[in-house]
Amino acid sequence: MSTVPVILAAGKGVRMRSNLPKALHALGGRPLIEYALELGQEVGDQPVLVVIGHGAEALRELVGERARVAVQAEQLGTGHALLQAAVELRGNVDRVLVWAADMPLLSAATLEAVVARQRENDGPISIVTAVAKQQRGFGRVLRAEDGSVQAVVEQADATAEQRSIRELNVGVYCFDSAWMWDELSRLQPSTSGEYYLTDLIGVAVAQGLEVGAIAVEDRAEIIGINTRVHLAEAEAALRERINRGWMECGVTLLDPANTYIAASVQIGADTTVLPNTHLQGATSVGSGCSIGPNSVVRDSAIGDRCRVECSVLEQATLEEDVDVGPFGRLRAGAHLARGVHVGNFGEVKNSYLGPQVKMGHFSYVGDATVGARTNIGAGTVTCNYGMDRKKHRTEIGEDVFIGSDTMMVAPVSIGARARTGAGSVVTRDVPADSTAVGVPARVIARRSTDDDG
Ligand code: UD1
Ligand code: MG
Repeated sequence: MSTVPVILAAGKGVRMRSNLPKALHALGGRPLIEYALELGQEVGDQPVLVVIGHGAEALRELVGERARVAVQAEQLGTGHALLQAAVELRGNVDRVLVWAADMPLLSAATLEAVVARQRENDGPISIVTAVAKQQRGFGRVLRAEDGSVQAVVEQADATAEQRSIRELNVGVYCFDSAWMWDELSRLQPSTSGEYYLTDLIGVAVAQGLEVGAIAVEDRAEIIGINTRVHLAEAEAALRERINRGWMECGVTLLDPANTYIAASVQIGADTTVLPNTHLQGATSVGSGCSIGPNSVVRDSAIGDRCRVECSVLEQATLEEDVDVGPFGRLRAGAHLARGVHVGNFGEVKNSYLGPQVKMGHFSYVGDATVGARTNIGAGTVTCNYGMDRKKHRTEIGEDVFIGSDTMMVAPVSIGARARTGAGSVVTRDVPADSTAVGVPARVIARRSTDDDG
């Protein structure tokens, strides 16, 4: 007995006042359609089908291999939208589970519940309803004296009395496939000219058939996004869901309403995330860390006991006990080993900083390897962009002391335990255990080593 998930996503989303199709607007950093696709993959036992129309090409590209698509060339209503899937689905499945791409916070449990209700239903439809104070322009559920569902009436067509009804049509349906395709093709347009999917409920009742209904309790689930106000509402609800989850897992959030953690992020216990911090993409944070305030961490891996304050990290790796900021900037390929300290206005890109490296003040380190315990003085720059318009590497050994305001013109290497004087411009390799000063820098002395001492 098979159930195919069908997502309606062809609508314009006129009320969004946007050039972007509604299903591509972002929630929690991801397009709305992603939420529907994930749900569909979770609950159906057949490949998902998405009905696209407005902005079809962009949606088709995003959906890719993850679902089949049917195109609704003209947006003539939800009933007409579903009918476009008939060619693909008719005769091949037992049940069709339908919902709209604009309801991203629906849970798999709700979808599963309506499928389960339909499985035991002798009639052809089961729907999801919710009792809510705010009616949100939803269709109202009309019930008979005996409590059975009689019809769904759209707000625009409802009488004053019907408008006061608090039981709403959430917009999630499970249909008996054989019955539905026939009735759908016979559907008449409403006075507005649209074919209402919801009219099938009245059709079933007129045939003396039972319409099943289940109720959803969680207010967040029924946030349908028709306007940007709804989008912000959904964003807050999603944030609350995610942040509550992390607090329950042992993460301290000082101000959960102002902490922005993407669903894809991982965080260890006893980490504190301070306000106005954005953890995004494929980011993981270890335990015992302090992140924020005012930080953005995107696609980065942070080890245990790190501190990141007022900083921006992107595709960076921090091992344990690393300390960044305030006002640090770590870019793609920055790898800070255990115990590294990057202070204010430090920028690191595509570089490895070995254990215990100290870079306390404004400096730029790009395309470089820095050995353990090396100290990088204020104002240091790895000049990685050559006259040949190519990027070159700087190699700095262990226990090196780079004096303030040193320019290292790559490609260049500085040997272990070497020093550079303040303001030196290093254009040639500096041997281990030596000191180089001046512009351009020259070696002035060899420090004593085990070999010559
Ligand atoms: C619909 C329901 C309403 C329900 C509400 C819940 C109908 C007639 N009404 O109203 O009872 O309370 O959802 O959110 O179904 N779409 C298409 N093609 C179209 C029109 C719409 O694919 O021609 C898609 C939209 O992209 C959207 C979904 O169907 O994802 C719902 O359309 P929308 O216009 O938002 O319907 P509502 O007015 O919200
Ligand atoms: Mg809607």
